[in-house]
Amino acid sequence: MDAQDLIDTAKMLVADYKGLLAMDESNPTCNKRFAKLGIPQTEEARRAYRELIITTPGLGEYISGAILYDETIRQQKKDGTPFVQAITDAAIIPGIKVDIGAKDMAGHPGEKITEGLDGLRDRLHAYAQMGARFAKWRGVLTIGAGIPSRGCIEANTQSLARYAALCQEAGLVPMVEPEVLMDGEHTLSRCSKVTEEVLQTVFNQLYTQRVTLEGMILKPNMVLPGLTCSQQQSVDEVADATVNCLLRSVPAAVPGIAFLSGGQSGELASARLNAMNVRFKSRSPWALTFSFARAIQQPALELWQGKEANLSAAQQALLHRAKCNWVARRGEYKPVMEGTRT
Ligand code: 13P
Repeated sequence: MDAQDLIDTAKMLVADYKGLLAMDESNPTCNKRFAKLGIPQTEEARRAYRELIITTPGLGEYISGAILYDETIRQQKKDGTPFVQAITDAAIIPGIKVDIGAKDMAGHPGEKITEGLDGLRDRLHAYAQMGARFAKWRGVLTIGAGIPSRGCIEANTQSLARYAALCQEAGLVPMVEPEVLMDGEHTLSRCSKVTEEVLQTVFNQLYTQRVTLEGMILKPNMVLPGLTCSQQQSVDEVADATVNCLLRSVPAAVPGIAFLSGGQSGELASARLNAMNVRFKSRSPWALTFSFARAIQQPALELWQGKEANLSAAQQALLHRAKCNWVARRGEYKPVMEGTRT
């Protein structure tokens, strides 16, 4: 491992106001989203959709890195160009999701533990050979009565740290994604407390596992009230709660924080990211950026509907969301931009 290469890649992923596009849905998740829209759930449909995304003209102006899935990193464009080549040609850095999903955790009803450490060293080397330069692993924490438990937080964060150490050994920048889910009726203040405990534990574990903080990216949830909580705070209040929580728990050595969208609408995700960059411009030690899947892809997927004729409209919608988030990083996003696709 060359630590400087890792540091350079991590910096590149958050440079120039760009952010990441997560397109690493597992086949079952991708199929579920296709099924809702009546799109066939076939390997060819998934391939065509991924080709639509990565061939969007101008995407590399706003997107620094794309997170792929095991099936996707092996796929090709219709003309035979490997996806990894097409992505690299678009000035986008290819990355890969390497966990194999969150499973029920023994002895912990209602909680999940992410699997995928067995054989990970070999898989990381294989992905690096295929051209991946960073990786992603997601741990999931649910807020509810008496949860997340300490056992669930410790198990998931230790897995994240062991994964991150293996990534750096293989020359891949780890994106460390501890996601506190939005589902539930918990308050913003409860989400803040849980997120802070999770992040404190993440960084303890990363330290224990000797991970180079300068050569990683944190991918956290924003601090939000639960989806069914009766009190929904303003965009500015969410921005303050989120960045204050991060300031208490994330070392300044980390180059970038790239949020997941977690089920927020594209517009809200952009507005909240924008508010963070406006309100903490001079005080944030890290780049505050995005690594969205649904909040970038959803409008494009709905327009595409699996039909070639809709390809260009879908690509424009995708580019629009990517650009809105790039503008939000600059602190210049305005809701009125939503009416004028550029
Ligand atoms: P969302 O932005 O849709 O939450 O997805 C991000 C991601 O990478 C989930 O692991």
